Parts: sequence; structure tokens; C-alpha cells
Amino acid sequence: MMKAVLFDLDGVITDTAKYHFKAWKHLASAIGISLDEQFNERLKGVSRMDSLKIILDYGNCFDQFTALEREKMAEQKNYAYKQLIQEITPNELLPGIRKLFVDLRDNGIKIALASASKNGPYILERLKIDSFFDTVVDPAKLRNGKPDPEIFLTAAEQLGIDSKECVGIEDSVAGIKSIHAAGMFAVGIGVPENIGADLRVVSTSELTIESLFSHFKHQ
Ligand code: G6P
Ligand code: MG
Repeated sequence: MMKAVLFDLDGVITDTAKYHFKAWKHLASAIGISLDEQFNERLKGVSRMDSLKIILDYGNCFDQFTALEREKMAEQKNYAYKQLIQEITPNELLPGIRKLFVDLRDNGIKIALASASKNGPYILERLKIDSFFDTVVDPAKLRNGKPDPEIFLTAAEQLGIDSKECVGIEDSVAGIKSIHAAGMFAVGIGVPENIGADLRVVSTSELTIESLFSHFKHQ
């Protein structure tokens, strides 16, 4: 039985992926690396420091910076990102998401946040949806990022619900892998066909409690 739905944030609840990309693109261009939308797919679901490593490796310059310089770069990116998200309003919830939260709550299904973003709780508040969440995983306490299953397993553990009764919703390849590695049913939004999401939708407007109930099966 489906007892909990574990949500990724960026690209699932709201389109902050575009703000992450804008902030990274700005930082990268300052050091002569040009990023395009396709490259951005590799950054989705990936932690701040891991994203920076992917960008610097792409520019062949990871070793040209000290660990301290890299810390400073990540801070700069986060500063720019925070400027971009401080105006977010509930209007920026993706289609169907608020209704899904209401329906899940009314049907006694638990709701968790499984996002790698340290800005997650702030964004939930800005979107005025924090009260729907039964639990929020603190990514600062995790040892391994997506595609490792740790974040989804921790969410299930915090809820006290077996993995087999959880659904994970993701927009990234790393995220779908993480959900599957946790032994959960994986819903993918706009993800490539070949990564094997158990249910694929093009838009969040297709995410209804009815479709989750009807497609859900034990992994
Ligand atoms: C999410 C996003 C990533 C981002 C990561 C860390 O997983 O999809 O693009 O790098 O969170 O976010 P933060 O807000 O902590 O830098
Ligand atoms: Mg995402």
C-alpha cells in the first residue's frame, strides 16, 4: 500500500532548477567556462560542491583552485542563488502540486522532502507549503548524495514507513537512480525514457493522487 510520497524540490515542486542554472552559469562564465541547458541536466539533483566539481572538471581546471577557493566559489554561487529565490511566491508552485499535497494529506498519506538543497526549508516557507510536510531530510547530515539511496532511505526512516510503501518523485536522472536504489516506486517528471522510471509524466499537472494510487506497485 502506498503510505508516503517523498518529494524532490527543485524541478518537482517549483522550477528553481532555472535559478540554480543561472547562478552557476554566471560563476562559470567569470572563469571562462560556458555552460548550456543540456549541460545543466548533469547538475540536477547534485549537491552544491559536487556540482562545482562537475563544472570545473568540464572546464579542465579543477586543480587550478585550492579547496578554500572552491569553497568561496560555492558560497558565491549560493549568494547569487539566494538573491534569485528571495522573491519566490506561492504562484511559483508547479501545476497540480498544491492539489496533490491536499489530496495526500486528506487521504492520510505522509509527505516528505528529500532534496539535496540546503535552501529547501526556506523555499517551502516562501511557497507557503511547509505545513504539508511530515518530515524534511537535512542534507547536511547525509554522507552520500544522489544517486546513492541515503536521502530517500532517511526520509522513509524519519517517517517510520517501509521503503516498499514509499513513492519518490524526481526530475533528475541521479534522483530516479537514488529512488530505485532505495527500493521505492519511482515517478519521473520529464526524465529520459531509458532510465526506467516506474511512472513517467511530462508535466506535474499529470501528478494526481488517483494516478499514483492506480500505478503504484511494490518494488
Ligand atoms: C538540488 C538541485 C541541485 C542543487 C542541490 C543543492 O538537488 O537540483 O541543482 O545543486 O539541490 O542545492 P543548494 O541549494 O544546497 O545549493
Ligand atoms: Mg530536482
